[in-house]
This record gives sequence, structure tokens and C-alpha cells, in this order.
Amino acid sequence: MNKKTSGGLITAIDIGTTKIVAVIAQKNTRGIIDVVGIGQHPSHGLKKGVIVNINATVDSIKAAMQEAQAMAGARIESACVGISGGHIKSINSTGVVAIKSREVSQHDIDRVIEAAKAIPIPKDQYILHVLPQYFRVDGQEYVFDSLGMYGVRLESQVHIVTGAVASAQNIIKSCELAGLRVSDIVLEQLASAAAVLTPAEQEMGVGILDIGGGTSDFAIYKDARIRHSKVIPIAGNHFTNDLAVGLHIPFSKAEELKKLYGSVSKDRILELKKNYLDISLGYEGGTKTVELSSLAEIIHFRAEEVFDLFLEEINQFRLRPLMPTGLVITGGGSLLSGMQELASEKLGMAVRIGQPEILAADVPYAIPDILKSPIYATVYGLILHASGGCNFGDISATSDAVFARVLKRMRSWVYDLF
Ligand SMILES: Nc1ncnc2c1ncn2[C@@H]1O[C@H](COP(=O)(O)OP(=O)(O)OP(=O)(O)O)[C@@H](O)[C@H]1O
Ligand SMILES: [Mg+2]
Repeated sequence: MNKKTSGGLITAIDIGTTKIVAVIAQKNTRGIIDVVGIGQHPSHGLKKGVIVNINATVDSIKAAMQEAQAMAGARIESACVGISGGHIKSINSTGVVAIKSREVSQHDIDRVIEAAKAIPIPKDQYILHVLPQYFRVDGQEYVFDSLGMYGVRLESQVHIVTGAVASAQNIIKSCELAGLRVSDIVLEQLASAAAVLTPAEQEMGVGILDIGGGTSDFAIYKDARIRHSKVIPIAGNHFTNDLAVGLHIPFSKAEELKKLYGSVSKDRILELKKNYLDISLGYEGGTKTVELSSLAEIIHFRAEEVFDLFLEEINQFRLRPLMPTGLVITGGGSLLSGMQELASEKLGMAVRIGQPEILAADVPYAIPDILKSPIYATVYGLILHASGGCNFGDISATSDAVFARVLKRMRSWVYDLF
């Protein structure tokens, strides 16, 4: 797969529910990844992380790409893109094979990963990632590098992420109509994790929750391997919608107020009591007086719901022991005042806000200040991946041939089962 576009440029596009961001980067002569173009446009064609209007999405991709290309002074042909939405499903799967000549060979490793992939998948889903977690050799747990080990039985534990074929096809089609070939499709929280989690956190055990506009995407890492992932279909737009409905004001006004005065902190509710604001209702005409504490009163329920769903998942799958360093929240929703404190209180663990940073001294990336915001975690992680700085395992979808290949592979896995 060719990850670079013409002239050694690397491009990533985050097709989000609220905004589409394109970033163009280039490796300079010292091997450092320099961002040379950034473009952003509001997104009007997605609902809950999924494309529901191709034309609107194409227009936004074109606008973001035009801006990024003008800044970079280059014409881009292909890009790595993210995927999310309620259709994403993840499971951990195990494969078992006999070790052929008493010593684990690369061929045994390939066979045992293939064996773990052989799971029944609904017809409308395809495998997006197969991420090896660890091996067992003759019952010896948590072997990360099994090559050359002696034994008779090799087991692999892998994390499999599947997505709806139609959703991926809509992403590919939108990019192609905007004049771009899709070089890779990556689960969004994997990209965000690469951008904001430190290697030490990933090694010791940590969770990441990217609270976007349409979905809150989470993943858990331990021993530098992904252990769990899930998409929660509630995020920032739901907070705004609650405000719009609760206060009888337009969505755009609610969004503005949420960013300026919104909070999920109970202390802030008390602080803001008896503070009033006159809001002009725009196209509806007239003004409305709102007590500022009512914003927090309305939206803190939604924020609690997001963390309740997160808690439900970590309790159901007994994930808490995998997160000794706590949780990193990112995405635009993490910027809502009081989110970090509320998360820490509800979950009973350390919580920090993550933004793209240089995470290890030996990683040569120069991040422009403009991208140092939780909003850009996904797009920056996609750039890291596209530039070869991190590997998300066996990634499929690339342009037209992709689907033929993916479907063929799906069929062969199905045959493998019988
Ligand atoms: N300063 C802020 N205070 C409160 N909320 C904010 C702030 N900045 C952004 N948000 C909210 O963050 C959300 C957008 O986040 P983000 O840009 O990460 O989403 P997205 O990538 O477009 O969507 P998704 O990943 O869910 O498809 C919006 O709901 C927006 O209101
Ligand atoms: Mg996002």
C-alpha cells in the first residue's frame, strides 16, 4: 500500500460529525514530520459519526482540502481517513494451532492469527482491524514475542474491529467524489489514542474516551496493546440538543451558549445562580432571558449519561484493573467546563484531558500550536499512522479494489469456518 501522496506528502482527513479537518504533512530532511497544510470546514452530512448525506459531505471535504492544499501549495491525490459510528463492533478472539516443529516460526504466528480471525461476521459487516494482543505458548500467558519459543500449542489473542460495509463505502465514495483516493480507513479512537496517550500510559494500562460531536469513542490499552474498544452514540451534539429543547432556543444559539457558559460542574451551577443573560433568538426574532445555572443543570445529566455508559462497559467486561493510570478524555466534548472533574468523580479514577503532543523524546514530530487541541486528536493520529509512526494492524479498505479484496477475504474466512 502506498501511504504517501505525490511529492512525499502525507494526508489525513477526519470526517467528523461537526467538522471535517484535512492535514497535509511532510517528512523533512531530518526525518521530522512537518505539518505543511491544514484545512477545516463545518460538517453537515453526518449523524452520530456516520455519513447520511453524501453531497454535503463531499462539499465539506472539498472545502477543507482546498484550504489545506492552498496552504501546502500542492495537489493531493489520496488520504488516510477515520471511521466511527454505532455500526462499529469489537471483540476479542482466540486462535489455536499446533506448533509444527516444536519451535514457534513466523509461519505458526501467521497461522494462529488467521485462526483467530475466523469468526462469524454478519454479511453487512467487514473486518476493519485485526490487532494482535498477546500469545499463549503451552498455557504460558502474556507472551508478546512468541517467535523462537519452544512448545507444542500456540494460542493468539486478537482484538477484531468490524464496521458496516455501507458506511465505509460511503466514506470512500465521498472522498472519491471530492477527488481523493482513500489510502486507509482507521478506527477513530485508535488514531486519537496514538496522538494523545503516552507510551508509559499505554504500557501500564489506560483508557481513552474521545468525546466528539456525534459519538464518544473509547479504547483501553495495557502492555502497549489494545484490550477493548467501543463506540458510545452520545456526545457533544446531544448536550447542545438538550439545551436547545430545554430552553426553546435554536440549535446554533444553544451551541454558542454551551461553549461560552456551559458547564457540567455542580459548583458552577451554584456559582451561576441568579446570573441572567438575554439571548437574541436570531431568525425567530425577539429575545429570551436565561438563568445561566440552568445551562449546567440541563447538560450535566447528559454528561453523567456518557460516563454511566462508560462505567457500565468497564464493569461488564471487568476492565478497571486494565486502567491503573486512569482515563484520558479528548475530542471537543472534553473542553466542556467541568468534564474532567465530573469524570474523575463518577468513575473514581484519575482523569486528564489529552491533546496532540510529542509523546516520546525519540519520536520526531513537530506539532503546530494550532493542532494542539483535543479537537484535533483524531486527525493528528491519522497523520502519525499514515506517516508510518504507528501501526494499527491489518487494515483493509483502500479505494475501489479495496472492497473487492475485503469481500473476497470475508468470503474466504466464511469458508474457513466450514
Ligand atoms: N470549548 C468548548 N466547550 C464545550 N464544548 C465544546 C467546546 N469546543 C467544542 N465543543 C464541542 O465538541 C463537539 C465537537 O467535538 P469534535 O470536534 O471532537 O467532534 P467531531 O470530530 O466533529 O465529531 P465525531 O468525532 O463525534 O464524529 C461539539 O459538540 C462542540 O460543541
Ligand atoms: Mg471526532
